[in-house]
Amino acid sequence: MRRKALFTGCALVLAMGLTGCRTDMWVQQKVEAQGNSEFYALTDPVAAFNGKVYGDGSRPMPPNTIARGRLQDPNDPLLTGKDAQGNQIDYLPKPLKLTREFLARGEQQYNAFCSPCHGRAGDGKGMIALRGQWPRMPSSLISQRVQNMPLGYYFASGMNGFGIMYGYGTRMTPEDMWAVSAYIRVLQENARLSGLEMTDAPNTPIQQAQKP
Ligand code: HEC
Repeated sequence: MRRKALFTGCALVLAMGLTGCRTDMWVQQKVEAQGNSEFYALTDPVAAFNGKVYGDGSRPMPPNTIARGRLQDPNDPLLTGKDAQGNQIDYLPKPLKLTREFLARGEQQYNAFCSPCHGRAGDGKGMIALRGQWPRMPSSLISQRVQNMPLGYYFASGMNGFGIMYGYGTRMTPEDMWAVSAYIRVLQENARLSGLEMTDAPNTPIQQAQKP
């Protein structure tokens, strides 16, 4: 039995060696990302129209290209969470509207992205928080201190990260982060109504700073 297994093993390894490890695909001609290309040096349509020869493997953008899709004014409060004076806003930026669907989306996104650490109730006692070794505990988002913060503070912390917390801006859309921010207000209201503890986690940065 063992000998049979050994034989099958050897045959498998041999078969992989004979068929799999060929380098043709690796050494074949191809365009490397960011590399040069003789082909494009000759046929480049952009080169043809402004008299330059680029020869880049990646296509340069034709002059006066206009972005489609998500590129927006980088100072738009929707993306920064701040008003023209640079203060964090405490309302939903245009064109967002507070609707039942919007809050439901916020709940769904919060539960997926934030609750593992901050807890479903926002008290900072998510499963990761309870089981992990943390240099600092995830903040309670229902603490009185965090409740006093404007909506734009939740948005910015979520998008860019906060202290040791990683930012979620690469994984969530700004619209969804606003929905999450609005939902954090729901959690705070829930905490008030159900009499949850509203103290900071024992070692949030603010409390650390206040230590003598
Ligand atoms: C992997 C765990 C983890 C996840 C997931 C996480 N956070 Fe955090 N968050 C933390 C920790 C830890 C801190 C405290 C960081 C520090 O003190 O350095 C924090 C702090 C914050 C703060 C600052 C609160 C204060 O103390 O002033 C906000 C707001 C916040 N998180 C929002 C969010 C939002 C919104 C999401 C989901 C998009 C999220 N967090 C997901 C771990 C997490």
